[in-house]
Parts: sequence; C-alpha cells; structure tokens
Amino acid sequence: MNLSDPSSTSFELSPPQWSRDAVSLRFEMREAGLTVMPAAGDAFGAITVDLGSASVERRVAQGRGGLLAKALLPTPDKPMPLVWDVTAGLGRDAMTLARLGCEVVAFERHPFLGMLLLDGHRRALQRDDATGEAARRMTVRVEDAHWALARISEEERRPDAILIDPMFPEGKNKAAVKKDAVLLRMLVGEGARPQEDEALLRAALAMATWRVAVKRSLKAPKILETPPPQASFKGKSVRVDRYAC
Ligand SMILES: C[S@@+](CC[C@H](N)C(=O)[O-])C[C@H]1O[C@@H](n2cnc3c(N)ncnc32)[C@H](O)[C@@H]1O
Repeated sequence: MNLSDPSSTSFELSPPQWSRDAVSLRFEMREAGLTVMPAAGDAFGAITVDLGSASVERRVAQGRGGLLAKALLPTPDKPMPLVWDVTAGLGRDAMTLARLGCEVVAFERHPFLGMLLLDGHRRALQRDDATGEAARRMTVRVEDAHWALARISEEERRPDAILIDPMFPEGKNKAAVKKDAVLLRMLVGEGARPQEDEALLRAALAMATWRVAVKRSLKAPKILETPPPQASFKGKSVRVDRYAC
C-alpha cells in the first residue's frame, strides 16, 4: 500500500539479493483477500490464503486415513492434542489439523507470508461453518518458531505435538513444480536449509510432550539419522515421519 495515497490497496516488493528469479512481487487487496503475484501480472500465478480451499477439504475428507492424521491424531478415546505447526506457510496443514479437531498454533517466520496467513485466518474466522469453527481452534503467530521453542517456559502450555514441513530442495524439474510453490519460493527463498531443519527438529523433539511429525518429499533423506522415526506414512509424493518424544 502506498502510504501517501490513502486509497491505495497494493504495494510492490523488490526481489531480495539472494533471489535468483529477480522478480518483483505485487501485493494487492482483492475481494478474495490479500493476494501476492509477480509484479508482471498474475498470469504467472497468484496466491491468496484460503483456509476453506478445495485442497484443505480434500485432506479433511480423508479423515483418520490422511497422512497427517495418521501421524498426529490420538486414538478416538483420547483428547485432541495441541499441535504447533512450526512451518505454517499457507496454512493448509495447520487448517487440516484444526478441521480434524486439534488445537493448532501456526508459526510463520516470513513477515509477508505471515501477513497473507493472518489475512486468510481473519477471513476464515468470519465464516459460520466448519472452516470458521476450525479457525477458532487455530492461532497464527508471525514469528520464528526457534525462538518460541527456546523460550518454551514462557508459554502457557507446551505443545503435545509439533509438525515440521521444511522447504523442499530446489527441484530439478522446475516445470513440474506447481505455480504456487514457485511463487512461495520467490517470496521466502529457495530450497532446503538442512542445518536449520536439523536444529528445528532437535528443538521440537526436546519441547513437544508427545510427538513430532516431519513432512518430506517421498525420497528426501531423513533430517536426522538418530533417533530413527517411530513410523513413516507414505503417500504418492510425500511421506510423514513420526517421532516419539
Ligand atoms: C514448505 S512451507 C510449509 C507449507 C505448509 N505446510 C502448508 O500447508 O502450506 C515451509 C514454511 O515454513 C516457514 N518456516 C521455516 N522455518 C521456520 C521457523 N523456524 N519458524 C517459522 N516458520 C518457518 C517458511 O517461511 C515457509 O513458509
């Protein structure tokens, strides 16, 4: 938004130095919500966080048979866990878990992505349906989860479970990567950061009281050699490794 023009509802973000794409991004307040796209136009894709999207609905429809549910839901006789999603991104996994009945705290450290997520969450809270109800079980925190884990004693309650979904390494076959994944990378940076992922997993294992789940592409190596995961749940393109705490 141009602060000198009160009617302006958009702003542009120049590419950071590390960006290989060197593409400026445009943020625009549209009817559907806050949207990001390449400044050259949305023919190259656009992202608006929609916590009631078809992709969330599809995952929710899998119920206890979905990969996240298998990794993070307790048996039906037990209370639903408090889950920290420490890599919230566009909030799809966080919302799926909230829809399945978990209380969720979604951490996103990138400020602009955090803005998109907060906007999506705000719109979901206004809904009078299952999405709205789940949004009320969800909190969005725009901060680095490392910090929250390092200061866990300041939290009202420790998480029962933690979900980590690190950025995938840069794909060799870029054409096969979905447009929104490409845009997401333009925004938050390219590829995996193995040392950070390792530190995040170690902190999560030390701080969760029950379980940690790590989402990886199917063939990606484990983040840590030890401890080994307690179980791995495999889908067509991703797997979820579950660790006991
Ligand atoms: C692959 S995306 C996650 C996608 C997400 N699971 C979804 O359903 O949309 C990874 C995200 O985690 C964020 N992230 C990575 N490390 C983080 C940390 N320590 N604290 C908070 N967010 C982090 C990145 O900025 C990025 O947006």
